[in-house]
Amino acid sequence: MDSQDPEASIRSNTKTAGNAQSSAALHPVENANYWNDRYSSPGHVPVLTPLPIFTSRVATLRPGNAVDLACGSGRHARWLAQQGWKVQACDFSSVAIAEARAFGTTEDIRYEVADVRQWSPVGGVDLVLAGYLQLPVAELVALLVEAGEWLTPGGRLIYVGHAREGLTHGRGGGPQDPEILPSLAELATAAADFKVNALAHVVRADGRTVDVLLDCERWA
Ligand SMILES: C[S@@+](CC[C@H](N)C(=O)[O-])C[C@H]1O[C@@H](n2cnc3c(N)ncnc32)[C@H](O)[C@@H]1O
Repeated sequence: MDSQDPEASIRSNTKTAGNAQSSAALHPVENANYWNDRYSSPGHVPVLTPLPIFTSRVATLRPGNAVDLACGSGRHARWLAQQGWKVQACDFSSVAIAEARAFGTTEDIRYEVADVRQWSPVGGVDLVLAGYLQLPVAELVALLVEAGEWLTPGGRLIYVGHAREGLTHGRGGGPQDPEILPSLAELATAAADFKVNALAHVVRADGRTVDVLLDCERWA
């Protein structure tokens, strides 16, 4: 399994989820059971190491209240708590949240099973992280705009995901379905009302996979 992205092998471009949840019009990745199946599969190995692209940026911030959107097994939530942040972490896969909790619970992390599109944190937050949350792009953009509204003035929003441009400039790494791959320009629309610290493509060391980074903050 890819050491950065726990679900790098998403390849499907079918809209048939093939499980119990009603999902005829949904992309498979929008279905919690799709993710539950992945986290339950015999080959699943939780990725423990937080993304350096997050840790290097967050290390310069003063700890406060953070959100980990689509936290998966909780690698970023745990790292944030170790750095002194109070974390609200949400994922709609109950299996992922159970796995995250199995790494240990602390009063500094509150895990919730919830769809990020219908969830909001308690109180204002100083940092929102979202790693490899690949939603249909319009939904991702709407979510990032909303997440920006949760931020206190000067608060940061950092998103890393697979980039649409990987389809043309990568060599087959990551998901291949443009529907769930934001382009740089689309992420720029999400950040239109923020102070943008970084909006960039990041080509992984394997040379096959192109990610996209958005690091922005609420104007103080
Ligand atoms: C590739 S994993 C990344 C997990 C984690 N962010 C990390 O970097 O280790 C994508 C995660 O997004 C979650 N997810 C996808 N769509 C979601 C949604 N609408 N609401 C909540 N979680 C979602 C999945 O359950 C899965 O855990």
